[in-house]
Amino acid sequence: MSKKLTLGLFGFGVVGQGLYDIIKTKKLNLEIKRFAIKNPDKKRTLPLDLFTTNADDILDDPEINTIVELIDDAEAAFNIVSKALKTGKNVVSANKKMIANHLQELVDLQHEYGTSLLYEGAVCGSIPIIRNLEEYYDNELLHSVSGIFNGSSNYILSKIFNEYIDYDTALKQAQHLGFAETDPTLDVGGFDAKFKLAIVASHAYGLYVKPEEILNIGIDKLNDYDVRFAREKNYKIKLIPTAKEIGNEKVILYVIPKFVTAKSILYAVENEYNGVVVQAAFADQQFFYGKGAGGHPTGSAVLSDIAALRYDYRYEYKKHIAATQLIHSNDHNITVYLRYNNEGLVEKLNFLKVSERYYARDFKYIIGDINLESLIEYKDILNADNSFVVEIA
Ligand code: HSE
Repeated sequence: MSKKLTLGLFGFGVVGQGLYDIIKTKKLNLEIKRFAIKNPDKKRTLPLDLFTTNADDILDDPEINTIVELIDDAEAAFNIVSKALKTGKNVVSANKKMIANHLQELVDLQHEYGTSLLYEGAVCGSIPIIRNLEEYYDNELLHSVSGIFNGSSNYILSKIFNEYIDYDTALKQAQHLGFAETDPTLDVGGFDAKFKLAIVASHAYGLYVKPEEILNIGIDKLNDYDVRFAREKNYKIKLIPTAKEIGNEKVILYVIPKFVTAKSILYAVENEYNGVVVQAAFADQQFFYGKGAGGHPTGSAVLSDIAALRYDYRYEYKKHIAATQLIHSNDHNITVYLRYNNEGLVEKLNFLKVSERYYARDFKYIIGDINLESLIEYKDILNADNSFVVEIA
C-alpha cells in the first residue's frame, strides 16, 4: 500500500516550478501543503497563503511528513534537511553541493533517526544513476563511472563547437534557460560536476570523499586557440568527471576537460544533455543518456524520489557497510595538453614525460604526463596564469 504524502516544498525556482507542473498533471496520493520561499515580493503563480518565508512553519507542522528541498543555498539546505531527518520527516533533495559536502553526516542521521533522504535529482538531472548504482550494480565490480555531469558546461561547449557562438553568449543562454547555477562559476569551474562525482563515488565504491580533496578543472579558461587546436584534430572538448578503480585498492576521482574523438560515446552528447558511462566487470560498458538540467527533467527525477517514498524506499549504502579496502587517492598520472602563458609555470608542474611543445607569441602549449597531485598543488597558479588544461585519452 502506498502511503499518503503531505509535502512541504522549500524553493520555488526552476526545479520547484518544474516539479509543480508535473505533479499538477498527475493523480498521485500526495499533496503539497506549503511552499517556503526566500523572496516574498516575487510574483507567484499560486495563492499567496500557500507560501511562507519561515522554514519552521513547515518543519514544525506535524501534518507534513515529507520535505522536498530545492533551494540553492547549501548551508541553509543542510540545516533544513538535518532538522527534517531528525524530526521523522523523509526528505527529497536536489542539492548536490549540500549532499556532497555533508554526505557522511546525512547518512548517519538517516540511520540514527530511521528516516530517508533521496537525491536522484542532484546528479545528472533526469538520469536515474543513483538508484542504479545503489540497486542494479549492487554486486558488480565497477571499473569506472564517468561521463558528462554538468548541463551548462556541455551546453556552452556545444554552442562553441557546433554553432561558433562565443563563450560569453553561450553562458548567458545557459543562464537564461535556467540550466546554470546562481553562481555559474560552480558550473564552468567544474565544481558542480565534482559534487556530483563525489556522490556517485559514494554509491559506486562506498567511499566518502570530501569535494575539496578532488581535482576540478573547468572550462572557464578555454580560449580560441584551444578550440582551434581541437578542431584541427577533429576533437571536441567535453567536461568529464571520472571515478576509476585501480588495482582493487584505490579509487581515483577528478574532473577535467577532455578531448574526445567521434569514437567516444560522449562525442554526440550535446547541449544540456548528460551521459553516464559505466564500465563494469561483467555487464561491460553501459551508457545512460538524458537531460541533465532544466526544470522538467530534474523535476521528473525529484518526483520519482517522492513517489518512491510512498513505499518507504531508502538507500541502504550497502557498499559503505561492506567496508572494502578501497581508498581514495590522487596519485595517478594522466596525459594533458596545457596551454599556458608563463614559462615558469611549466617548470614548477613536474611533467613526468613531455611528448610535444609549441611556442608562438600568443600561443604556447605542452603535451605530457603529469600526476593529479601536481595539478592539485598548482591549481591556483594555473588559474592565475589563465592556463587551460585538457586531458588526452
Ligand atoms: N547547473 C546544473 C547543470 C544544473 O548545469 O548541470 C543541474 O544539476
